Amino acid sequence: MARAVIVGSGSEIAPVRVTNAQMARIMDTSDEWIRERSGVEERHFASPDLATSDLGVRAAAKALEAADVARDEVDLVVFATMTPDHYFPGCGTLLQAKLGLRPVPCFDIRQQCSGFLYGLQLADAHVRAGLARTVLLVGAEVHIGFMPWTNENFAYAIGESDVPPTKEEWEWNSRFRHLVVLFGDAGAAVVLKASEDEGRGVVDHELHGAGADYDKLYVPGTGFKHRPYTDPEQFRRGDHIPVMEGRHVFKMATTSMVEVARSVLQKNGVSPQDLKLVLMHQANKRINEYCAKALGLREEQVPHNIHKYGNTTAATIPLLWDECARDGRLRPGDLVLLVAFGAGMTWGASLVRA
Ligand code: ACO
Repeated sequence: MARAVIVGSGSEIAPVRVTNAQMARIMDTSDEWIRERSGVEERHFASPDLATSDLGVRAAAKALEAADVARDEVDLVVFATMTPDHYFPGCGTLLQAKLGLRPVPCFDIRQQCSGFLYGLQLADAHVRAGLARTVLLVGAEVHIGFMPWTNENFAYAIGESDVPPTKEEWEWNSRFRHLVVLFGDAGAAVVLKASEDEGRGVVDHELHGAGADYDKLYVPGTGFKHRPYTDPEQFRRGDHIPVMEGRHVFKMATTSMVEVARSVLQKNGVSPQDLKLVLMHQANKRINEYCAKALGLREEQVPHNIHKYGNTTAATIPLLWDECARDGRLRPGDLVLLVAFGAGMTWGASLVRA
């Protein structure tokens, strides 16, 4: 049976770099708090001319080039994001059109920080079933639209305006400080090809979803349980901005990521020491340090990039893959475990022979 092999990757970081000190110009926070509690030192946000599909397109073009795959070879697109350009259609077909691909099937995945792993299983299943031979799997996010600050506040943060926030704006921005300091914008993509080579490819996956705690991390407004689905009242209340009970999510993430990683390794007779790398979702460096310790991993097995980019949700794992592939930490044939936890709640792990 053919297996899906990741034959190339690419990524695109949003252009506007924002340090923790710059965030502290528009809300009650500090570089020290953000670094210590999350590991984030800076993040990048998209400029107004860039949407999620654009970051995805740029990352996908680089992945196709790295894989030496022509655009007309792609026979399936899978696009994971929680920040689509439009309510509908999803970003899959937008990417197809902007990249000039054939009118192939385009799936949109919305499993937040686990989106890339859900997409990977879908892509792999299509390859194993003989439905696709070349898959473009993309994760991209533009979180800045979720942010509470005004455009003028943001211009002040990055030194492009001399007008500081008013007292009310400062308090409003600070209400969401535990959330907004964590995220950044990026796109990343991989190309998967069907291969009969037993020595490479996706080995196994385990995915989970459980909605009982969905309201610990969700967007209360702008959904179709409201009539109409959006209105000025929701915006006044801030219901378009995600709610996150950080400590609760932290506990769920650590427990679930360790459990699912152990389970996939055990099923496949792999010990943590056999792994070249473990690419964990980058929501909080402390979550990953906890998981690495619980799994008995060595420091060099667990790369981080949260200090540079923050949490880039569905883009995170392919972005980390791309960095490691480009700087030589990840080579063809290496055994790698991918692990993520995200809103939903959703979580999973994939074992991959690079
Ligand atoms: N700056 C300064 N102080 C802050 C900030 C901030 N940015 N944010 C919160 N604080 C304060 C709080 O108000 C609180 O103050 P108090 O003690 O006076 O009440 C104090 O810091 C501690 O707050 P906690 O929320 O307990 O801090 P914690 O150490 O838990 O860190 C964090 C918060 C970073 C959010 C952490 O809980 C976390 O990372 N949770 C998990 C996030 C996650 O994994 N999300 C899933 C992926 S995202 C997705 O799927 C879309």
